[in-house]
Amino acid sequence: MNITGRFCIINNQLTSVEEFCENNIINDHSIYEVIRIYNNKGAFVDAHLRRMEQSAALIRLSMPKKEVILYSIETLIKENIIENGNIEIVINNDQNWSIRFIPHSYPTDEQYRKGVDTMLYDAIRENPNAKVKRINLRQATANFIQQKGIYEVLYAHNNQLSEGSRSNIFFIKDKQLYTTPVSTVLPGITREVVIDIAQANAILVHQVAISTAELSQFDAAFLTGTSPEILPISTINALHFDVNISLMRLLIMRFSQKTTG
Ligand code: PDD
Repeated sequence: MNITGRFCIINNQLTSVEEFCENNIINDHSIYEVIRIYNNKGAFVDAHLRRMEQSAALIRLSMPKKEVILYSIETLIKENIIENGNIEIVINNDQNWSIRFIPHSYPTDEQYRKGVDTMLYDAIRENPNAKVKRINLRQATANFIQQKGIYEVLYAHNNQLSEGSRSNIFFIKDKQLYTTPVSTVLPGITREVVIDIAQANAILVHQVAISTAELSQFDAAFLTGTSPEILPISTINALHFDVNISLMRLLIMRFSQKTTG
């Protein structure tokens, strides 16, 4: 069962995790958010709830009130006494929703230092701006990742890159950042934070279509996401990237200042 801790929240009620039944709560049309908890506090919560409202609007689904969700997040953290981890909010409609701690896996120090291996994978997410459970695609990519012994797949369809299966992607060339346009990807919260950090440091960010043929022109590449934060990529298929480029290391440092306060 994809749940940890002692309690979860089901429809605004504090509930023992034994009563959580994944099949009643999560389906292929559920919208969801994964929020990272650092030192008892959710990171970028407002941004996550704003994106959740957008997902709900995109698929015409009614949301519980924001204050109710915020109070539930606080209660969940307090009652479980879990200082650091990931929580998942899943909403089917305003009468059928839940929040719980889920098992997480964060990259190791070595992965941050040496970067991770990735491979291209032919797929696109329909309605990419909505964070909707797509159970079959997620299962297929998880199997592929495991089989190949890699960290992540990068979706590429008709040779156009979009995003990772659970992350966004950035590239660096001549001290400037490149990432795929927001219309083609999940508007990642970490992606937004990276763009904000770049703008605050006068680093140019190009949001442009990127084809697989162009990948070899880039000096460096990294993934962004709630669990990986900013994670250097060492390879995409047979292509190698610089994992020590100073701009990427600066972004990693600035990002960690935002989450550790
Ligand atoms: N997913 N793109 C996709 C397809 C994702 O599923 C995710 C995150 C991201 C990164 O978004 P963020 O920076 O807001 O985490 C990009 C999560 C966390 C998941 O499904 O578990």
